[in-house]
Amino acid sequence: MKIFKSRILFLILFVILVQCNNDNKKLVDQNFRYAQNNYKKMVESFPNARQFPRSLRQNGELVRVESHDWTSGFFPGSLWYIYEYTQNDSWKNYAEKFTAELEREKNNDGTHDIGFMMFNSFGNGYRLTGHKEYKKILLTSAKTLATRFNPQVGCIRSWDWNSDEWKFPVIIDNMMNLELLFWATKVTGDSTYYKMAVSHANHTIKNHFRADNSSFHVVDYDPTNGEVRGKQTWQGFANSSAWSRGQAWGLYGFTMAYRYTKNHKYLSQAQKIAEFTLDHKNMPEDMIPYWDYNAPNIPNEPRDASAAAIMASALYELHTFVKDKNYRKYADRILANLSSEQYKANQSNFLINHCVGSRPENSEVDVPLIYADYYFLEANLRKQRMK
Ligand code: GLY
Repeated sequence: MKIFKSRILFLILFVILVQCNNDNKKLVDQNFRYAQNNYKKMVESFPNARQFPRSLRQNGELVRVESHDWTSGFFPGSLWYIYEYTQNDSWKNYAEKFTAELEREKNNDGTHDIGFMMFNSFGNGYRLTGHKEYKKILLTSAKTLATRFNPQVGCIRSWDWNSDEWKFPVIIDNMMNLELLFWATKVTGDSTYYKMAVSHANHTIKNHFRADNSSFHVVDYDPTNGEVRGKQTWQGFANSSAWSRGQAWGLYGFTMAYRYTKNHKYLSQAQKIAEFTLDHKNMPEDMIPYWDYNAPNIPNEPRDASAAAIMASALYELHTFVKDKNYRKYADRILANLSSEQYKANQSNFLINHCVGSRPENSEVDVPLIYADYYFLEANLRKQRMK
């Protein structure tokens, strides 16, 4: 009788598990079908593959950017993700075509964003194809990024503009671009890149975070002695506020830094950020944050679905390191909501709508943004890999 009961229980659990797996697969399948449909048309809007989609203007016109724009790597990166999912060579051909156009940026030493531009395009391309030429281009790009490291400060300099006000600005977003450096050490064995990335991450923990675990957007350093000159925002509501995408970059960045270093300090920082954002009193029920957690007119403020997409992807990875904190459940909830009609970019060939680029500049408010699409696809792939 006892054996019979436990067999029945086992059978029920097995059926539930199979059902859950089918539901997961269904959502991811559906999202990649949607992505193929929209991106087929998007690719056709760029017959020469010389420019890249970034967003939509308020009048519905497509914003096209050149290779030097910080967002240029996200479209090729998304094409690589579609190829990864479908294993269809036509997507590989598209990805290769758009990726090739970015090679000229490998020596662009004017921005930390060379990490986003090159790692999302060539990085995914190298991971999926092993092309030797991609590896060479990535290593040149890592060398270029490393030229922005200042040993006095211990950080990579993020931006070169606004030099009347800032001497050595470092933004929380910069955590993302450390991946190119970690990767370069992994493939070459040259620890120089790793040491720079670790130094940058440590200074970010020390200087970017407040007691409540929210982060400043910009920390400006004195390049001659490394002292902090100021802590401010650029895209957030106020210097003291928590800009949503900044918190998402931090969450993703420290989770990724833990993946490469296994330093528990980084894992703990990622968990603190998760706690700050997921438990925030202004986090809406559907987990798609307002553009700033302290925006003045919540709930009458635009959401930033790009922050949500970055968070979902980061939380899936965080779940692989910490199983007992429901991170996967939160990620599933965000992804399910991003996949709903409400957040779909149906009026365009993008995937995700209701994002905010820079509210203070009234730029790209409540529109699709290519990086939301990229992290949405990445989150889908990460969900699919979950057991
Ligand atoms: N890194 C620029 C942004 O998040 O808007």
